[in-house]
Amino acid sequence: MKRGILHAMAMTKMADVAHPTGVPPVFVARGLCKSYGTGDATVHALRDLDLDIMQGEFVVLLGPSGSGKSTLLNILGGLDAPTSGRAAWRDHELAGADEAALTAYRRDHVGFVFQFYNLIPSLTARENVELVAEIARDPMQPEEALALVGLSRRLDHFPGQLSGGEQQRVAVARAIVKRPDALLCDEPTGALDVETGKLVLSAIARANREVGATTVVITHNAAIAGMADRVLRMGGGRIVSIEANGNRCAPEELVW
Ligand SMILES: Nc1ncnc2c1ncn2[C@@H]1O[C@H](COP(=O)(O)OP(=O)(O)OP(=O)(O)O)[C@@H](O)[C@H]1O
Ligand SMILES: [Mg+2]
Repeated sequence: MKRGILHAMAMTKMADVAHPTGVPPVFVARGLCKSYGTGDATVHALRDLDLDIMQGEFVVLLGPSGSGKSTLLNILGGLDAPTSGRAAWRDHELAGADEAALTAYRRDHVGFVFQFYNLIPSLTARENVELVAEIARDPMQPEEALALVGLSRRLDHFPGQLSGGEQQRVAVARAIVKRPDALLCDEPTGALDVETGKLVLSAIARANREVGATTVVITHNAAIAGMADRVLRMGGGRIVSIEANGNRCAPEELVW
């Protein structure tokens, strides 16, 4: 009986985590907390956060500066560890995993795109992508990844010969060449103008569609929300709202 009540309570808690039905969650966070510092100086970056992200979903994460977006993304990507609570990718427990396990998890499953592209300046676009393909288990050809982001004609250009948007698309190609299960992007258009930003977003949307990577994009630009299956808003280390988007639009259709 007691067990039944506990089960019902657990189900209620699960039901609070609104998500589309019929698809299994791949990321699961329960009671996730992350704090920095001690005593009066403690900063609570994440406070008791619950979240499910579904297989293949495109999620946009919005929220003011300091609300915990990067902290959450870094924990999901195995770059950072929570202070308490649960975080899992399928059957990989991320909370409490050791550094070797997190490194293997990142290498085998996750592609990252950050605001600054971090390409190696002495390598061409193709070589920057190749570097990741070489250590991946089932990579696509670097040329294929670069074609997916619309850069077939820039294969042998060095980063210094590419525009910011093109460099960021190389970074997207580098993230997707290993066919990641998850594509995690932290302000990928933060350093770009509107039109260039849209090209980068279409590259990310295409990777989500064609590689099937479960995709999370952090942005300050609420207009990007139109591209998402779901829009999560964070505030004060919590998720304050979740909206499902019945009518996902192409990046080109976004009005900024
Ligand atoms: N390494 C750290 N040491 C101490 N405090 C940190 C650290 N990283 C993040 N924080 C704090 O945790 C909180 C959440 O930070 P986080 O970077 O996740 O926010 P964010 O939503 O990504 O913000 P932004 O939009 O500015 O990138 C902030 O108050 C931040 O100052
Ligand atoms: Mg951030």
